Amino acid sequence: MEDATARQLESCRICASRDLALVLDLGSTPLANAFVAPERAAEPELRFPLEVLQCGRCRLVQLSVVVRPDVLFRTYLYSSSASAPMVEHFDRLAAELAQRFALPGACVVEVGSNDGVLLARLAARGVRAVGVEPAANLAAIANARGLETWNEFFSADSARRVLAAKGPAAVVVANNVLAHIDDLGAMLRALDVLLARDGVFAAEVPYLGDLLEHVEYDTIYHEHLSYFALAPLRTLLASGGLEVFDVERLPVHGGSVRVFAGRAGRHAGTERLARALEGESAAGLTDRGRFVDFATRVQASREALRRLLSELRGAGRRLAGYGATAKSTTLLSFCGIGAETLAFIADTTPLKQGLLTPGTHIPILPDDALLAERPDYTLLLAWNYADAIMRGHASYLAAGGRFVHPMPLARIL
Ligand code: TMP
Ligand code: ZN
Repeated sequence: MEDATARQLESCRICASRDLALVLDLGSTPLANAFVAPERAAEPELRFPLEVLQCGRCRLVQLSVVVRPDVLFRTYLYSSSASAPMVEHFDRLAAELAQRFALPGACVVEVGSNDGVLLARLAARGVRAVGVEPAANLAAIANARGLETWNEFFSADSARRVLAAKGPAAVVVANNVLAHIDDLGAMLRALDVLLARDGVFAAEVPYLGDLLEHVEYDTIYHEHLSYFALAPLRTLLASGGLEVFDVERLPVHGGSVRVFAGRAGRHAGTERLARALEGESAAGLTDRGRFVDFATRVQASREALRRLLSELRGAGRRLAGYGATAKSTTLLSFCGIGAETLAFIADTTPLKQGLLTPGTHIPILPDDALLAERPDYTLLLAWNYADAIMRGHASYLAAGGRFVHPMPLARIL
């Protein structure tokens, strides 16, 4: 395994402790966004163990395997604009940032700006928004829309060049980025270069509390190196001279937190931050015992889904999936569900349509395939958008189609 594409984690990426305990093993899976072109279906695919460790010192939950970032992120098929709820989510974030921290004319830098979905909303509010995005295909889409995007990994070096061109950033945004970064120390040094003296770092991460509570084991895949509770996140940012001063709970991606941090002593901590930290510690969120319970619930979730799908197949029902999500790669692989069970997966992302799912090689069709093919049951692989998807597919439902929600225990909606 110790080859050019991946390395084994030897010590905690926040505190360097070597006390890392295995808390969950999801087997070996392909890379979550490595969708396969049909003409390459016979070629071997990369697979790596999907093992979750917890640091005994700072309690950070992290994967045992670190896949090289250029393998994962140089071309990237996940585009935020393909999911209407995310577009609305980023519209609200742009409004909040513009109102609280970034007056018209201020410079906001977004790390991992994807196809520019947030940049566009910030620009519409008169903010000078600049993206730094490692995926060449996504940076090109954003630039073609007139949204300035530097096609780079965020580093002290790129931060220095952005600083020279744009001046200090009033806000640096990083949404669903921190969990992807192996060398978090380098990320913090880059932030230190770019952030204005009273600047704000605003970061969204999927929240460990939601992952455990709702048994969202499929959100575990190789791109997500770290699974954050607030306490380790605070420890991390403090190691880079940043103090968290506010936090919001968000419904996106199965439950996330957005933290706001600034240079030490520059912003007063909010009441809701104090409450969130107390709540987390009272709930024992990072206690190791929590994972024993979680692992049991993950197995139960797998069994329930396999049982339901096999009953439906046994009764001669036609099945498909909805949402060729990254997390579907974990779910399908861990549950042993493939093309024998799901005839296709419908997805709104043009970049994914016509490709095959990693490992399982289920064809990905456009969204309207659901109505055209009308499978009897459709497994919701993008369960985080269940409400929006049900609303958007009223005709499928009216024609007798049904959705199956896989989490935490499979059920027909
Ligand atoms: P995500 O859960 O990681 O955001 O991925 C969502 C995937 O589901 C993405 O490929 C887009 C797709 N999708 C649809 O196909 N239809 C929809 O209505 C929504 C919201 C997402
Ligand atoms: Zn640690």
